Order: sequence, then C-alpha cells, then structure tokens
Amino acid sequence: MGNTLDLRRRIVGWERKVPLLDGRKVRYVNLDNAATTPALVDVVEAVNDFLPFYASIHRGAGFKSRWSTSVFEQAREIVAKFVGANLRHDTVIFGLNATGAINKLSYRLCLPRDFVVISTLLEHHSNDLPWRRRAQVVRVGATPDGRLDEEDFDRQLKKYAGRIGLVAVTGASNVTGYLTPVHRLARKVHEAGAEILVDAAQLAPHRPIDMKPAYDPEHLDYVVLSAHKMYAPFGSGVLVGPKAAFLCGDPEYCGGGTVQAVTTEHVDWADPPDRDEAGTPNAVGAIAMAAAAKALMEIGMDKIAAHEEQLVRYALHKLRKVRGVRLYGQTDPDKAHERVGVIPFNIEGVHHALVAAVLGYEGGIGVRNGCFCAHPYAVHLLGLSRAEAEGWRTRVLSGDRSALPGMVRASFGCYTCEEDVDRWVEALERIAHKDFARYELNPATGEFSPVGFEDPRPTLFVH
Ligand code: ALA
Repeated sequence: MGNTLDLRRRIVGWERKVPLLDGRKVRYVNLDNAATTPALVDVVEAVNDFLPFYASIHRGAGFKSRWSTSVFEQAREIVAKFVGANLRHDTVIFGLNATGAINKLSYRLCLPRDFVVISTLLEHHSNDLPWRRRAQVVRVGATPDGRLDEEDFDRQLKKYAGRIGLVAVTGASNVTGYLTPVHRLARKVHEAGAEILVDAAQLAPHRPIDMKPAYDPEHLDYVVLSAHKMYAPFGSGVLVGPKAAFLCGDPEYCGGGTVQAVTTEHVDWADPPDRDEAGTPNAVGAIAMAAAAKALMEIGMDKIAAHEEQLVRYALHKLRKVRGVRLYGQTDPDKAHERVGVIPFNIEGVHHALVAAVLGYEGGIGVRNGCFCAHPYAVHLLGLSRAEAEGWRTRVLSGDRSALPGMVRASFGCYTCEEDVDRWVEALERIAHKDFARYELNPATGEFSPVGFEDPRPTLFVH
C-alpha cells in the first residue's frame, strides 16, 4: 500500500532510539498520540523565534511588549481560522487545555435550575464531570460496539426540549476513535432550541473542523481544543464560542487583565476574551498552538485524514491475523473512515497492563492501557455488568488495582507510518505466543514491570 504522507521529519525526536530490556536500542514507535502528541518542528521553531522578543502581553509600552501582544492576538486569529470561527461573532479564549476550557464553560454558562445538560456515554471524563456539578446530566447511550445511539439522542432531545441547557458531545472518541456526526447533531440541537458544545480534543489533530456561520443550522456553538494533542506541548488550549455568551457574568478566575476598572466598591469587567483570561497569559503556549494549527492547515487536514484512514485500514487488516486479538469498536477495514486512528484491543489471556508493558520494555512501542479517562464508556465496551463494575470500584478504593478492567489503545498521529504498524503487530504476535520476559504486577499501581529491572534515573538535569 505504501505511506500516503510522510511527515516524520517534521516531528521533533521521531528518529530517537530508546533502550530495550535486552540492551538493544530501537527507534521509539509512539502509538500514544491520543494521550499526547510530540511537537512539530514548526512549533519549536516558532517558539524559538518568539522567545528573543518575548515580553509582557497587554501590559507594556516597550517594543517587545507591543510586538508580543500583536503576535499573541495573531495566534487567536489563526486558531479561529483552524476551527472555522468568525471573530466578529466568536471569541477565542486561551486557557490550559480542553479540560480547562470545558470547566470554564460549565462555570460561565447560565443554567436555570431545572435545565439539563445532554451528554453521551462516549465522553471523556472532562466532558462529563464538569457538567455533573452544574446540572442534571442526561447521558445518550451507545450501541454495543460503542457508536453514539442516534435514536436515543433524538429521544432525549425530544423529551427535554425547552429545558436543555447545553448538548455536550465529543467530536471523536479518545477510546474507540469513533467520529460523531457533529453537524447533523447540531441541526437537531438547534431545532430543539438548544446549543451544542463539541469537545474537539481528539478530533482536531485528525479531521478538519468547521464551526460554520452562526446562521447555519449546522453551526457548532462551542468548540474546545487541547494544544498538547495537536503537536504543540506548551500547556495551552482554547474555548471558542459566541462573544455574547461571555459578555455577562463573572469569570471563574478573576484578577489582573480581566477588568476595565476597579474601585474599592465596584468591578467593571473587560469584554471577551480578556474577561476570561485572568493573569498574564501563557503567550508561548498560544503561539505554539497557533504554529501547530498553521502547519496542520498547510499540510492539509484532508490529506492527514486520508493518510490516517489508510493506516487504520492497513492495521485492521493485519490485526485480523493475530491470534487472540480482540478489537473493540469498528473492526471492518472498509469502514476505517468511521473513526480516527485510535484502536483499542485486548489479547486473550494477557492482562492489558502486561501487554502495554511488554510493548514498551521489549518493543520500544508506547501505548496506553486502562479505561482512558472514560470509565463509563470503557465499562460499556468491555460488556461489564453493573455488579462487576461496582466490584472493581470497591477493589480500587481499597488500594488494589491489580484487577482493573481495561483495554490497550494504539493511537496514530499524522506522522505514523506502516513501518510503525508493522512493528506493533509483530510485537503483538510475540505477546500472543507468550514470548516475553518475566514481569511482576504492582497491585498499588496496576502496572507491570520486568522482574529485577529498574529504569535508570534520567540525567536531563545533570551537568
Ligand atoms: N485524554 C487523554 C487520553 O485519552 C489523556 O489518553
């Protein structure tokens, strides 16, 4: 088949070798991009270009302050373009990450007492827990293989029409990679007189996002992104939404930069986005995020999507042939377009944490295992009964994580290539044949490590 896109050289450290248990060194294969992506070279270059002129944002009269402020505001424009927002209507609020952005929205949104927030079983905890604190959360169900149950979605919209505070859905699942038909859902949400938030943390690095104009029935009202999942690991994220929603009310954090005037008796808040960016902003993070967005747009999100789709198809074909592999979600290679490059699996008779450990220690391959900060969805995919889930919870609370249910997740980035998939599948074949070293489980962490082995202490800070 061959790689359709080769972006490896644009990724910082893609060629780095790491030690294996047997002392050999191999190129690291990062299949944990759903958790965090490495940095794009473009991002590091932008940060390096910015730093010599870096100075106080919004608060200084000197050249460097004026210049830094201007670059920071340009970063907003680039991120707005990346998601198809219109800055005459929308505001781009910089924060820590998508979790911070959703927490902010949950604080800032006016939710009358008897209103509900409609969410789904597919959500990451970050698009679930903040809403539980603010409203009754109604959770749309999932099909047995983990797809959004759209009939249930329609039922819930109908049932709660007139008292829906918000519909909060993921754009792509961080567990199965399933894509949510966000524009179709948006149309239905607007017909029910409500607004929609799309958690695009997993979607943004894989597919184009278009919020569409506010008059369009398929418009996305709010979108959140995490820069660390889009090749810009400098601690930023954004909440994009209508300015009007942030023109009233107090910000959840207040202080420097959020006001027009303060007397000992009164506070006059600034207009958005300043009202919602308390303290000196993370300018480096914002510039890094904009540089990543610009690079991704230049590469072409459609090209990235096509490459990843081809890679998912390739991987699903190969995984079918590995003995004892159980895949979750869509397993048909011809339906690779229904998901981003995220593949959860288990190997019969081998604990998910042991599979992840062997891949790491003996394969030089990075993956994540467990429930991926989406416990209710993982429990659903694993088909656990309520009693089983409850038993698991009791054991965890007693300090024993040895029997945590879970899966192993391999997740691709735009730079992942067939050679990476081959290395992964070959390692799985060895694991399926129980061809690996001796490992021991630490019940307190639920993690496996090779018997008698300890990682050397990193020497980064030693000179
Ligand atoms: N949300 C991240 C993940 O899915 C951390 O791994």
